[in-house]
Amino acid sequence: MVSIVIDIDGVCKSYKNVKALDNFSLHIDKGELFGLIGPNGAGKTTFLKILAGLLNIDEGKITIDGNDMQKNRRKISEIVGYMPDFFGVYDNLKVMEYMEFYCAAYYIYDGDTVKKINNLLERVGLLEKADMYVDQLSRGMKQRLCLARTLLQDPPILVLDEPYSGLDVYNRNEMKRLLRELSDTGKTIIVSSHILNEMTDMCTSLGVIKAGRLVLTGNIDNILEKVNNLNPLLIEVVDREEEVISLLKKTKEVKSISINGRKIQVEFDGNNEAESILLKNIIDTGAMINFFGREQRNLEGLFMDITKKEKEKRIL
Ligand SMILES: Nc1ncnc2c1ncn2[C@@H]1O[C@H](COP(=O)(O)OP(=O)(O)O)[C@@H](O)[C@H]1O
Ligand SMILES: [Mg+2]
Repeated sequence: MVSIVIDIDGVCKSYKNVKALDNFSLHIDKGELFGLIGPNGAGKTTFLKILAGLLNIDEGKITIDGNDMQKNRRKISEIVGYMPDFFGVYDNLKVMEYMEFYCAAYYIYDGDTVKKINNLLERVGLLEKADMYVDQLSRGMKQRLCLARTLLQDPPILVLDEPYSGLDVYNRNEMKRLLRELSDTGKTIIVSSHILNEMTDMCTSLGVIKAGRLVLTGNIDNILEKVNNLNPLLIEVVDREEEVISLLKKTKEVKSISINGRKIQVEFDGNNEAESILLKNIIDTGAMINFFGREQRNLEGLFMDITKKEKEKRIL
């Protein structure tokens, strides 16, 4: 049986005059590799910092593994490992010292610490770099070191803010491999990104965030199904265009209409049956049509549509 491990209900968070999260609700099941995707400024970092217990919320409720965030923040900080999007500057600190520093900060320094650090460094491919200065590591290595540090307490939930940003293809794949491996050990992982392609090939479920609101969420298969229903209906008419448009305007499932030559693009909120009824009604007007069907777009097209600014949309 799957169980909800993260339950977010109606969370609002503002910074002075910016509403960063607006009535944000989300459930994440145990063991998911959840991708939070949205353009810059959408509220991803704000949300992840809240999960990590680094920011207070203005309204709403958060429960993590049965613990109420407001009442039990200490427990939550033990079970959520957070990897920020910014690595920081560590003058004169070597890789090994960096890891030891965090062990001390987490109060987990004991006789096994060096062995534990070595195991983690090996896991992220940095064992040979243990003696190198942190500031001299490449971006990809820094990201992997940061992941190793996040794993020190072996948290069951990992929250990673844009872990692939600025990485080349090799390092990106390496990071993905590590996250998949961690996911296979049963951890619940939440990863943010502003690039959809980075998520679809590895996440088990996705949430799309725009201007502080969750606009789409579900497992990958569900989302692909929803995408098809969100794809515009394309109708190509040969004649009687005005009659067809007037019919479309009267059809309740039609949310918007845009015209490009003889092609009519319709935002249509209806299932297959509703589509068939519309097709029959169009034919009943006596119009000749030579195309009727959903435009086949991929998830990327949908994401572009969801995240583009309202004013760029042409709505009749
Ligand atoms: N410390 C802050 N003070 C004021 N506004 C902020 C602060 N942090 C973020 N914001 C604003 O909140 C919104 C969401 O930001 P953020 O959570 O960083 O988005 P993302 O990570 O998706 O790019 C943006 O409009 C951003 O400018
Ligand atoms: Mg961010």
